[in-house]
Amino acid sequence: MGAGELREDDEMSKGSLNVPDRVAIIMDGNGRWATSRGLPRIEGHREGEKAVTSTVLASVEMGLEALTLFAFSTENWKRPVDEVKFLMSFNRDMLDRRVAEFHENNVRIRFLGRRKRVPRSLMRKMDESVELTRNNTGLKLNVAFNYGGRAELVDAMRSIALKVAEGKMKPGSISEKTISNHLYAPDLPDYDLLIRTAGEMRVSNFLLWEIAYSELYVTPVVWPDFRGEHLREAIEEYNHRIRTYGNLA
Ligand code: IPE
Ligand code: IPE
Ligand code: MG
Repeated sequence: MGAGELREDDEMSKGSLNVPDRVAIIMDGNGRWATSRGLPRIEGHREGEKAVTSTVLASVEMGLEALTLFAFSTENWKRPVDEVKFLMSFNRDMLDRRVAEFHENNVRIRFLGRRKRVPRSLMRKMDESVELTRNNTGLKLNVAFNYGGRAELVDAMRSIALKVAEGKMKPGSISEKTISNHLYAPDLPDYDLLIRTAGEMRVSNFLLWEIAYSELYVTPVVWPDFRGEHLREAIEEYNHRIRTYGNLA
């Protein structure tokens, strides 16, 4: 091993990772975590809370600009009513338990998705969390809830169409920037890294516009077993990716 390699290892151990600004995670595999242990699926969702806390705190520590977690999709309403009901009350209670700690860590919480169909008590907790953390300047934590990438684009098109109909915007002036500006989080139009846990090689209608040039990382680790160290591993691999955006290296 040459001296150069030694130096590189040394730097790595000091944590000199090139940390991406924006990371999104498809938190998958809760059901499999539970059924592989002979437990009901909802126990997997419960266990996922530890992964959420560990990942958020690791993101704060590493200094990410934004972490976006896929918590409930527009397609997840198709699940059995008992599981959907559990997820609604569980997410409300998780906010109750965790938001104070996130707030202490200067985390700003937002929710991406449609409000329609979300139960009132969960909505109230969401609004309170947003309000409490509104002026925080650290990690932007976005929870995608009742979120669909296509629904987000439909909503963006509707608001643009309205402006055109009112004569406030000309069709010819619509650019990629216009579309980015009408998404749920206009300040976060692009992600650097998309992580999916539990091994599935698909996007499942998450952030379709925003992942146009994201690096993809799929781990077999199921969400309830995911921790900050797994996020670090994903970021280490990201550090070896060469991003040329269609250009030559
Ligand atoms: C992710 O885990 C949580 C949600 C989608 C709400 P799953 O519940 O999809 O777990 P698997 O994929 O069935 O194992
Ligand atoms: C994607 O996981 C949605 C969330 C993580 C909230 P799913 O488990 O719902 O996705 P599919 O069904 O495998 O595509
Ligand atoms: Mg799944």
